[in-house]
Amino acid sequence: MEKKELIEEIEKAREKDFRFKDSHILGSMCTSPHPIGKKIYSKFIETNLGDPELFPGTKELERKAIEFVAKLLHAPSGYAASMTSGGTESNITAMWIFREASNKNVVVLPKHAHFSFEKALRMLKMKGVYIKGKYNMAAKDFKKGVSKETCCGVAIAGNTTYGYIDEIEEIADFCYDEHIFLHVDAAFGGFVIPFLKNAPKFDFSLKGVSSISIDAHKMGLSPIPAGFLILRENWLDLIKVRSKCTHTRWQAGLLGTRPGAAAAAAYAVMHHMGMEGYKKVVEKCMDNVEYLKRLLDENGIEYVPPRLNVVAIKCDAERIAMELKRRGWMVGLDESENVIRLVIMPHVKKKFIAAFVEDLKKVMR
Ligand SMILES: Cc1ncc(COP(=O)(O)O)c(C=O)c1O
Repeated sequence: MEKKELIEEIEKAREKDFRFKDSHILGSMCTSPHPIGKKIYSKFIETNLGDPELFPGTKELERKAIEFVAKLLHAPSGYAASMTSGGTESNITAMWIFREASNKNVVVLPKHAHFSFEKALRMLKMKGVYIKGKYNMAAKDFKKGVSKETCCGVAIAGNTTYGYIDEIEEIADFCYDEHIFLHVDAAFGGFVIPFLKNAPKFDFSLKGVSSISIDAHKMGLSPIPAGFLILRENWLDLIKVRSKCTHTRWQAGLLGTRPGAAAAAAYAVMHHMGMEGYKKVVEKCMDNVEYLKRLLDENGIEYVPPRLNVVAIKCDAERIAMELKRRGWMVGLDESENVIRLVIMPHVKKKFIAAFVEDLKKVMR
């Protein structure tokens, strides 16, 4: 095919996509990356962190990106970490590590846990004890789920449907006393909660927290794929395998070839934004959440009081989501909870919120 023709075909395909910038995307936990991330990504396109001996410079940037996240989460000295493709890979890897470390196979987790845990449990032949809770998991209920068979607990810092945070402080104390690993899934909340006023504790400042997954490609504004798994100690050795073909002889993680571009870009975005930059982004999103709440209140539309920049609206969810889609709005849907979910990401501006509520009113009539 001629180059011109090929490019036309590709551009046409891209035109079919929704774009964050003219934001009708209200249900995604991703957003348009910061421009510096896009620029740096393209410069590192051929680098492979599955073989870091070939790319020591890129490896260095990955280490610096990890350091930023470790500092954000108050990781202790002696922590270990790996950059991943996102929350799913981080969660699966954490379950793998704790199964190896404990030789047990039961995981106690909230029913609101992300479906990546279902993948982890099936893949690793582990069993889940799912703890019910209205919008999050209470510590007292978690404790009841723990037994001699428990390999680890999972708590969520910003669950996917409601943005709620489990009672992590009390759960972490309990896990510490009972010598149970605790994995905190902060894939979404990790780049939000530290920047809130009166934020609850969820990170390594709690001595019972063993590991955390956090995604820079969500509220961290980095290009996809940019996840991190941070571990309190060097448990990566438990999943280390000998590599016979790469220049670097060991790997400890699910993937083989890994994009150095994602690491370099995440480093660029994080250091350009700094903690202050992220604080401003979170403040703006939370201000927009307040604006949305006001419009919903004025129109008598019922929602779950938000904790983060996720707003769940109680309604005939499947029908409403479908009708909104017809009008061009892409919202999140949780059929089992019968809610549509709006994620007020940085690309979601007030004018879109106002236009959305106008359409929501019409379809809810
Ligand atoms: C709480 C939570 N954990 C994990 C994930 C999975 O992240 P990813 O899609 O980057 O694998 C998500 C995605 O929305 C999430 O909300």
